[in-house]
Amino acid sequence: APDISVDAVQKDLKELQSVAEENGGNRAHGEPGFKASIDLIKKKLDDAGFKTDVQEFDHGGTTGYNLIADWPKGGSEDNTVMAGSHLDSVGSGPGINDNGSGSAGILEVALAVAKEKLEPKKHLRFAWWGAEEEGLVGSQKYVSSLSEGDVKKINTYLNFDMIASPNAGYFVYDDDAAVQKVFQDYFKSKDITTATSPEVNGRSDHASFADAGVTVGGTFTGAGETMTEEQAKQWDGKAGEPYDKCYHSECDDISNVNEKALDLNSDAIAHAVWELSS
Ligand code: PHE
Ligand code: CA
Ligand code: ZN
Ligand code: ZN
Ligand code: ZN
Repeated sequence: APDISVDAVQKDLKELQSVAEENGGNRAHGEPGFKASIDLIKKKLDDAGFKTDVQEFDHGGTTGYNLIADWPKGGSEDNTVMAGSHLDSVGSGPGINDNGSGSAGILEVALAVAKEKLEPKKHLRFAWWGAEEEGLVGSQKYVSSLSEGDVKKINTYLNFDMIASPNAGYFVYDDDAAVQKVFQDYFKSKDITTATSPEVNGRSDHASFADAGVTVGGTFTGAGETMTEEQAKQWDGKAGEPYDKCYHSECDDISNVNEKALDLNSDAIAHAVWELSS
């Protein structure tokens, strides 16, 4: 898999920060900053040769949007690997770690797929979800829009929600042992010990897929919980402090980014996408 440029991911995050600044300080469902975020990501994917589709849904009296991007080269859609991230923020801030980070990480992996003109054995699809912060709404709408047969065509769904927490933990979802191992092996190759997190279970868009019987996985650097002593030693972090002290706050802005965690996780996404789609 290629090495994803963390500078490119940071540049995307700066653009999402600008979107928030130009739209009242957030990128939340039902607010103009969310649709502007969708338009920004869609343009980059269209220019790179992806086949994109914006799925509209209604939630809480306002229109929500999911952006779906299919890579036209490679194997049949009957055997699809998906990677997804929620693109909406909460109303209180620009949502750069939560979840500009995952959104920009999978975007740069998608653009790397295009750059390499990858022809994987399986089909590749990327997704940016709306209204996650209102209860996994966009991803649930997507999954429930699929027939039972179409759900079965999804070989694996990978989820990335918060991958640049300032006081970063290196967490891997434990839903599926084989997918978990793909991520563990990547981090091990970089001398990083990973852990599982009880904070993850059912609390992001992978749950919409897991509930429908799809194999899921992903990585996470921690939200509002506190880092333990042992973890602080392992990961060179701060014990007794939250992984992300700006979680769901106004200060979740462009300065709320751990570049090392962002780089490692973006490269881990590329590794998993290449490995699982081959
Ligand atoms: N979904 C939570 C949020 O967006 C945080 C979270 C991320 C939880 C990843 C579990 C896994 O606020
Ligand atoms: Ca990198
Ligand atoms: Zn959140
Ligand atoms: Zn989130
Ligand atoms: Zn690799």
